[in-house]
Amino acid sequence: MPTSPSLKGVILAGGTGSRLFPLTKITNKHLLPIYDRPMISYAVEAMVGAGVDEVMIVTGGTHAGEFLRLLGNGHEAGLSRLMYAYQENPGGIAEALGLAARFAGSDPVVVMLADNVFEQSIVTAIDAFRAEPEGARVILSEMADAAHLSHLGVAKLGDDGVISEIVEKPADPPSRFAVTGVYCYESSVFDVIQTLEPSGRGELEITDVNNFYAREGRLRYDVVQGFWGDAGESIDGYYVVNDYVREHGANRAPSTAGA
Ligand code: DAU
Repeated sequence: MPTSPSLKGVILAGGTGSRLFPLTKITNKHLLPIYDRPMISYAVEAMVGAGVDEVMIVTGGTHAGEFLRLLGNGHEAGLSRLMYAYQENPGGIAEALGLAARFAGSDPVVVMLADNVFEQSIVTAIDAFRAEPEGARVILSEMADAAHLSHLGVAKLGDDGVISEIVEKPADPPSRFAVTGVYCYESSVFDVIQTLEPSGRGELEITDVNNFYAREGRLRYDVVQGFWGDAGESIDGYYVVNDYVREHGANRAPSTAGA
């Protein structure tokens, strides 16, 4: 009987964290506290809660060793295997993901940006991808504030539960659905990354990867219920996430509405 491929996790914790300067001049953004734990702990917990127990953390900069000090071999956090990769320069989210190619092998991957925090477990969305691990699948969050949307990736929804296009940081958001930092991909994603050209800001953009699958009609989505925050978006965003987690917790009982 054929066995389904295991889903591997990749947590991205590189970049410069320039929007949180000067805090991030002395440490990596993803080690800053969110309530009672370093930020990256929430991404690790989200992976474990979604049943992903083999994870690679990609980081960079001058504090990479602190991740090892915090998480060690990952067993205490509930991981069976924890690997680390080092991104020499902050060349973009897609470049960071490309460093996990050998770790992933021919398995599909779930990718999470380590500055993202969810109130509710992401397990429903991850299970939906596990059931059909083809193309790509992202988690969206509905929000009314157009000014906030213009700092994020925003999805144009097509027919049949697919996204027709993602517009990165749009002046005029095409919908109310922000793209969060959770992305699921079949293993072809590593070939797609090889074809990317750096964007105007000199980075390999994850939105270009997602739009590759969108053009093929193979970018599906789930809409998260409950709070979602990007703690790296701004200093105010950082405190919004802190305050929310302090009051309500994070990664709680599953509930996402699939599409
Ligand atoms: O948080 C959700 C948003 O994340 C999405 O709505 C956007 O579509 C997506 O592009 C991304 O936007 P950001 O502007 O927040 O991306 P940022 O450059 O802040 O990078 C987010 C995380 O990715 C960061 O916390 C660490 C990781 N990263 C980033 C870069 C540029 C790396 O690991 N290496 C990198 O070189």
